[in-house]
Amino acid sequence: MNYHRLLRVLAICGVTIVHTAVAQVIESQDSVTDYAPNTNVQCPDLSTTSLIRVFTPQNQTLHPKETEYVETRAKDVLPDAWNAWLGGDDARHGYNISDFQGNFPKVGMAIPGGGLRAALYGAGCLGALDARNDSAKAAGTGGLLQVTSYLTGLSGGSWITGSLFFNNWPTIYDMVLGNGKDMDGWLLDFSLVTPDGINLFSDMNQAFFGSLLWSVIAKAFKGIDTSMTDPWSRMISYHFLNQTSRENFFTNDSAHGAGQLWSNIPLIPAYQQHQTPFPIVVADSRPVGSNLTTALSLDPTVYEISPLEFASYDPSLSVGMNLTYAGTHLSNGKPENGSACVTGFDQAGFIMGTSASLFNQLFDFARNTISSFSKTDGDGLLYVLSRQLREVRTRADDVANWPNPFNGLKNSTFQDSDKTWLELLDGSSNQENVPYSPLFVNARGLDVIVTIEGSADDSVNNWPNGTGLLFTALRQSTILRASHQQFPPIPQTPDAFIQTGVNSRPTFFGCDPKQSPPEYPLVIYLPNSPPINGDDPVTNTQTFTLTYTRKHVSLFLSQVHNNIISGFTPNANTPDPNFGTCLQCAAIDRARLKVNTTSSPIPRSAICTQCFQQYCYDPLNPPSKIALPGRKLAFVNPDPVGLDKLGGFFAKHKFALIGGLAGLVALLGAMIGGLIFWKKKKTNQQAYKRVNDFHEEDAPWKRYSDHPRAESYELPDHRGGY
Ligand SMILES: *[C@@H]1O[C@H](CO)[C@@H](O)[C@H](O)[C@H]1NC(C)=O
Ligand SMILES: *[C@@H]1O[C@H](CO)[C@@H](O)[C@H](O)[C@H]1NC(C)=O
Ligand SMILES: *[C@@H]1O[C@H](CO)[C@@H](O)[C@H](O)[C@H]1NC(C)=O
Ligand SMILES: *[C@@H]1O[C@H](CO)[C@@H](O)[C@H](O)[C@H]1NC(C)=O
Ligand SMILES: *[C@@H]1O[C@H](CO)[C@@H](O)[C@H](O)[C@H]1NC(C)=O
Ligand SMILES: *[C@@H]1O[C@H](CO)[C@@H](O)[C@H](O)[C@H]1NC(C)=O
Ligand SMILES: *[C@@H]1O[C@H](CO)[C@@H](O)[C@H](O)[C@H]1NC(C)=O
Ligand SMILES: *[C@@H]1O[C@H](CO)[C@@H](O)[C@H](O)[C@H]1NC(C)=O
Ligand SMILES: *[C@@H]1O[C@H](CO)[C@@H](O)[C@H](O)[C@H]1NC(C)=O
Ligand SMILES: *[C@@H]1O[C@H](CO)[C@@H](O)[C@H](O)[C@H]1NC(C)=O
Ligand SMILES: *[C@@H]1O[C@H](CO)[C@@H](O)[C@H](O)[C@H]1NC(C)=O
Repeated sequence: MNYHRLLRVLAICGVTIVHTAVAQVIESQDSVTDYAPNTNVQCPDLSTTSLIRVFTPQNQTLHPKETEYVETRAKDVLPDAWNAWLGGDDARHGYNISDFQGNFPKVGMAIPGGGLRAALYGAGCLGALDARNDSAKAAGTGGLLQVTSYLTGLSGGSWITGSLFFNNWPTIYDMVLGNGKDMDGWLLDFSLVTPDGINLFSDMNQAFFGSLLWSVIAKAFKGIDTSMTDPWSRMISYHFLNQTSRENFFTNDSAHGAGQLWSNIPLIPAYQQHQTPFPIVVADSRPVGSNLTTALSLDPTVYEISPLEFASYDPSLSVGMNLTYAGTHLSNGKPENGSACVTGFDQAGFIMGTSASLFNQLFDFARNTISSFSKTDGDGLLYVLSRQLREVRTRADDVANWPNPFNGLKNSTFQDSDKTWLELLDGSSNQENVPYSPLFVNARGLDVIVTIEGSADDSVNNWPNGTGLLFTALRQSTILRASHQQFPPIPQTPDAFIQTGVNSRPTFFGCDPKQSPPEYPLVIYLPNSPPINGDDPVTNTQTFTLTYTRKHVSLFLSQVHNNIISGFTPNANTPDPNFGTCLQCAAIDRARLKVNTTSSPIPRSAICTQCFQQYCYDPLNPPSKIALPGRKLAFVNPDPVGLDKLGGFFAKHKFALIGGLAGLVALLGAMIGGLIFWKKKKTNQQAYKRVNDFHEEDAPWKRYSDHPRAESYELPDHRGGY
């Protein structure tokens, strides 16, 4: 019997006092409390190293380890990957690969937000672009993933990004559906917020909430302000990180991803072998003090989080911070107390949660409601928050609270230069739903950008309509002129995206630049679209659908797969047998312009010229959606009965259920356990001067708040009642 079980049994017997003794032991094992960062850590010697990298948009630099990673991959891995994809004897793209003299385009891939739908759409696409999938390989699309140098994710797109890394870059079907061995899958039949179904007070939901809170309170007791983003981050971790199975879901027998750090991605075997693109997650920010509860304008700083740095390449900031020490307040690049740095703040779950922190637009503090989520999920979130607030005060409940490491820097342009905290938000908060900004950074020099477009723009049927691209194009042509590449020509309104049909089939943008080097990258746009064969779509689910049956997931992935390997045939409902070749044409095209030839550049091959006529967007000769007949737009749930049955599933599988009485005892245990934990940490916490400075009192439930809390901020008792 392990200690956790022992604990539970003792708890059932009401012997809560033993909790204290055993708690010591538990802490040395993997525990959900590993979510707490380490405070009072000795800072690096700043006379020899720096935690901050400051540059300018004119002289932009990348972190040297990023450059090293990308260059090593380009040298050691990508040539073989390109050859494996394009070099076969049966290659139909019409080029002799050796003519490119090893000048391959630099490719990035972006996976946007949209909750589980966007994550699943990303999964389906990546599977269809992965050389490890036989049917993708046979179609010619499988291989693009292998030649990619960068992968960016935002919100739901950050969840699949994190999942790929923290499962060591597996194949998609193993990762999402489990492989019966070391991978348990995303377990999407357990709802994200209320995994045991709609009754918040069921024993299993309560045990789950208790585990989340134990994590969050452990962090808060280190003196670091938490928010709704923290329990949300923990919920995400259960599905997308690698330590949760169907068997341990409702237990504390696993840390459920607590303690796994984004800055430890470089230790993952696939990364060490340069088998993966370099991952980056995007988050937005609201200017501190603005209290914005609406969509942001394009002005506020956009951040990126790589395994190396928390950074912004916006001209107004142009600074990166060593991610290992994120969580440390710095002023002019220096910690105030060299013995009080913070590590372990960059929890993988918290990075994914930050990028998906959309609560500021959804909370209605006056009415204590949360919009967009289903009633059950909204109630679940508010319930957890209310219990959290009972134990700890926070400074802003509706944003991801990050200590500001950029205080004092770029004070004439950076919006939060004089602030102590940053308020980070979902990466789509400024309506740039596709995480493009890292991929257009000048210094990264990307040639091709693949857009795995799973956004739901149209509010009736949840298909993309170009909104994210239009906002990015606008931000790049105004705010980011000095720092980023420009966006290639696209239809100028969402309506034009729809009328031209480019939102409903693969499209290539920017095929024919006028300048050399090209004035923009080539964008391969792969939108979530109705099945080409006229089947009912199952992939245009709502962003706030937070439960999927296994059958639906499986059908979702295969529908995306079939669409991606098929391209489209104008005026028909049949696949384009050339699409794999056309995708290869798009990926390799910029290599023609990189080769040093004594005469003119390598001409585009005949078949690629033909492909480009069909797939490239030509603003002077736009296509029409009329060429895409017989598409069904309305979502049809492929497994409605399965969803109804989920309640029954839980009724039959209450393996972890320990009975109503035990549930109550466990809840009391949580409170008591929390108090013990707090007492143990109190010494530590007092020593953590830097953060305590910002709190009125030591007692963790009476924390300082930047935003004096209006009465209506408090959630009503009936939501919380123990
Ligand atoms: C700096 O932090 C250390 C470790 O937490 C603490 O012991 C020390 O008192 C702090 N120094 C100052 C000047 O606050
Ligand atoms: C650009 O930045 C790098 C690294 O900070 C520096 O070594 C170099 O001198 C700078 N170049 C110019 C032209 O300022
Ligand atoms: C490709 O080019 C190389 C070098 O010019 C040549 O040796 C090879 O035969 C060519 N391959 C094909 C299939 O034409
Ligand atoms: C989970 O991921 C962590 C971090 O990448 C790794 O150390 C660990 O071995 C993985 N565990 C399993 C069961 O795959
Ligand atoms: C995990 O531990 C916490 C704190 O003791 C408790 O509140 C929660 O109910 C436990 N969860 C499970 C599943 O046992
Ligand atoms: C962060 O700082 C530590 C200590 O100086 C150093 O070992 C590590 O390489 C740094 N990481 C990055 C990504 O710069
Ligand atoms: C901005 O930073 C500069 C250089 O560090 C400093 O001289 C100036 O006083 C700062 N201005 C403000 C308003 O803080
Ligand atoms: C496009 O999507 C946006 C939301 O992203 C929506 O507000 C707008 O109405 C849509 N436009 C069209 C023409 O569908
Ligand atoms: C390849 O993708 C198809 C999607 O239709 C899937 O059924 C199959 O299991 C995948 N194969 C592998 C090896 O992942
Ligand atoms: C191409 O030519 C330029 C300038 O002549 C040179 O700097 C570059 O290294 C050459 N590239 C290759 C791949 O030979
Ligand atoms: C934001 O909220 C704080 C605290 O309620 C208040 O002091 C501040 O004036 C508000 N800012 C704006 C721009 O409303």
